[in-house]
Amino acid sequence: MDQPNGCYRPTWIEIDHDAIAQNYDLLRKRLHPKTKLLVPIKANAYGHGAFEVARALEAKGVAFFGVSSIDEAVALRQKGIRSPLLILNAILKEEIPAVFEHDLTQTVCSEEFALRLNQEAIRRKKRIPVHLKIDTGMGRLGVWYEEALAFARFVRGCEHLFMEGLYTHLADADGSDPKATRAQMRRFKELIQVLREEELLPPFVHLANSAAVLHFPESHFNLVRPGLAIYGIHPFYEKRGRLTPTLKPALTLKTRIVYLKGTPKGRKIGYGGTYTTKKETVIATLPIGYADGYNRLLSNQGKVLLRGQRIPITGRICMDQCMVDGGAFPDLKIGEEVVLIGRQGSEEIKVEEIATVCKTIPYEILCGLSNRVPRIYLNSPDPLTPSAFPLNVVEKVDR
Ligand SMILES: Cc1ncc(COP(=O)(O)O)c(C=O)c1O
Repeated sequence: MDQPNGCYRPTWIEIDHDAIAQNYDLLRKRLHPKTKLLVPIKANAYGHGAFEVARALEAKGVAFFGVSSIDEAVALRQKGIRSPLLILNAILKEEIPAVFEHDLTQTVCSEEFALRLNQEAIRRKKRIPVHLKIDTGMGRLGVWYEEALAFARFVRGCEHLFMEGLYTHLADADGSDPKATRAQMRRFKELIQVLREEELLPPFVHLANSAAVLHFPESHFNLVRPGLAIYGIHPFYEKRGRLTPTLKPALTLKTRIVYLKGTPKGRKIGYGGTYTTKKETVIATLPIGYADGYNRLLSNQGKVLLRGQRIPITGRICMDQCMVDGGAFPDLKIGEEVVLIGRQGSEEIKVEEIATVCKTIPYEILCGLSNRVPRIYLNSPDPLTPSAFPLNVVEKVDR
């Protein structure tokens, strides 16, 4: 069979560039014209393909991209992404040379680390940009807000470091009670005031993730960091009644039936025999399993879309396969397309629904889609040279 993804195994992810562009435009409209965007493309752009997302959003004028490690940044540099890349995580001293070699921007969370970075900058006769991370209530990376002024003074003393950014991260912007978020914003604002008075305020000040961009306009400052919303998923997926814009999910997960078997009533299906057919039916085998990131918690719980209808997963999800009950369609054929995340006809399985079944968040489902599932990019903004592609990705597919 002629697969649209250039691979033999008929399981693939489609990423719609138009959806990403539309979500970007929607967020952009909510921001002050001078506020810039840093788009997190860590974890392979939440499973969407970091290089492709960066390439498309670079063309849209995104100011920064956020990555989680030197390795993620280097992979992007090697493919030709030239935009500023902010490493959002702390790194070890052994990784410092790579910051210089690949022209990266590092988050600085301690005086000791600032000193080491400064020493390397002196050695290399360079001055590099850094973003200072302040903890206003997340309890993760960054200097506690009470110590932030002393920290900023210290970094100013590191003459080969240019304080380009100051930021903090919200712990509960998507929660139902805004109290903690308001407290974090207040601490951050107070700090900004103090730093401004001492002429220590860096040019970029940022705090807002997707939830804050959408629901706390006072959190925007002059740089925002929305991730999930850019990919079309609403951060308040469990809450109802909030006024929210219509985001468009960019990712669809698809496969095709590779095997069909008429099965009598009373047969056990899959490992552990956890499902028994209730009547004579047709069990379809799909070539996708937990090694692809299709979570095993969907066993006997999840649904897939076939011919625009929801049909149930039967038995446990295996490493590379799973089984579904196709009994509703007597003329079912091998090779028919099945949608596991996304839309087929008028039905849709949202990543939020999968996350709920798996008792987790959409982030984890998206990031967990493994690299062995090839990504296909629809509506690419411009053609790429073949050398820019990883082997298992093709450029464009007609819908
Ligand atoms: C430091 C930082 N900023 C921004 C984001 C983006 O958050 P969201 O995807 O909820 O918009 C993340 C995501 O984990 C993050 O770690």
